[in-house]
Amino acid sequence: MQYKEVLDNARNKILNCKVCPECNGLACGNTLPGPGSKAPGNGANDNWKAWKSIRLNMNTFATDGEVDTSFCLFDKTFSLPVMTGPVGSMIQYSKEDITVPFNDGIIQACAEEKIIACFGDGALGNTITGAYDSMERYDYSGVIPVLNPLPNPILQQNIEFFERSKAFAICVVVDSYGLPHWKFSKVKATSKTVEELRYLKSCTKKPFLVKGIMTAKAAEQAVEAGADAIIVSNHGGRVLPETPATAEVLPEVVNAVKGQTKIIVDGGIRHGSDLVKALALGADAVLICRPFVVAWFGGGAEGVRVYTDKLRSEFVDAMYMVGARKLSDLCTEMVR
Ligand SMILES: Cc1cc2nc3c(=O)[nH]c(=O)nc-3n(C[C@H](O)[C@H](O)[C@H](O)COP(=O)(O)O)c2cc1C
Repeated sequence: MQYKEVLDNARNKILNCKVCPECNGLACGNTLPGPGSKAPGNGANDNWKAWKSIRLNMNTFATDGEVDTSFCLFDKTFSLPVMTGPVGSMIQYSKEDITVPFNDGIIQACAEEKIIACFGDGALGNTITGAYDSMERYDYSGVIPVLNPLPNPILQQNIEFFERSKAFAICVVVDSYGLPHWKFSKVKATSKTVEELRYLKSCTKKPFLVKGIMTAKAAEQAVEAGADAIIVSNHGGRVLPETPATAEVLPEVVNAVKGQTKIIVDGGIRHGSDLVKALALGADAVLICRPFVVAWFGGGAEGVRVYTDKLRSEFVDAMYMVGARKLSDLCTEMVR
């Protein structure tokens, strides 16, 4: 299957998304419910534009050799420093709730490609059990549940549920209480204090991630709470308009906490060249959400593999041309 075919297929099936050749947040604008950003709707595009404003420096005077993209996180080795983004409810893209088959296809493809699959806990109980079953079915542990900041007693139950699963780490997303739909929900997501997060970290023996960090101070607070990794993210522009782009704040966060915690970044990352930029600026890995959803609509697990392979080949190519042969070679002098 070619990537173009994946996009053409997706266009016939997906709601609220135009399946643009470049997923840059312009056509979806403020489509919420849907894949857009919170009104006025420029957040996703701001993220995308910030990566485009960074350029790669070509370095042809480097020792030749194979490019190695293997990536280690919490003692597990993956083929690429890439995670799929969690989507708690696929009702954003479809009249039916297809979150369970979506997570299943993502986990299957990630097991085959040896990359990290994240999934959201969604509103329906079967999202959680469905993802648990998929990890069992594909015997894959490279999976991270990304749990909403529900009141701590409920969140603790969800953490304990996944403590018994194959998942190799657990993440709490701290910004998603800003999504409009919580207003209509019986159980509401809330903001968390450092102490509340530290307590949640103590509920698991697995590595603990915090997603939704946008300032150096928040990064330091997540470290104080015990975060083994943070995800620099503004939820794809979906929780607060007029935040900076993630690429803009990444250097400040790296400066504040590099070496104390792993740093992952998301928001508008679409190509292997964007991966090079993010890692050169100090991120350890990236998370990509919307394009993986489109890829799944366009070809199920195969569509996800096609997009992953495209990313891989672009990444290898860009690393080769900036003079990097392994991830640890990537550094700030490779970007401008
Ligand atoms: C439709 C949709 C649903 C999402 N659901 C979740 C979620 O349940 N949990 C979460 O942490 N992030 C969620 N996100 C945010 C993404 O995981 C990611 O942080 C964001 O989209 C930025 O990445 P991107 O620009 O590659 O899409 C969602 C994003 C979209 C577009």
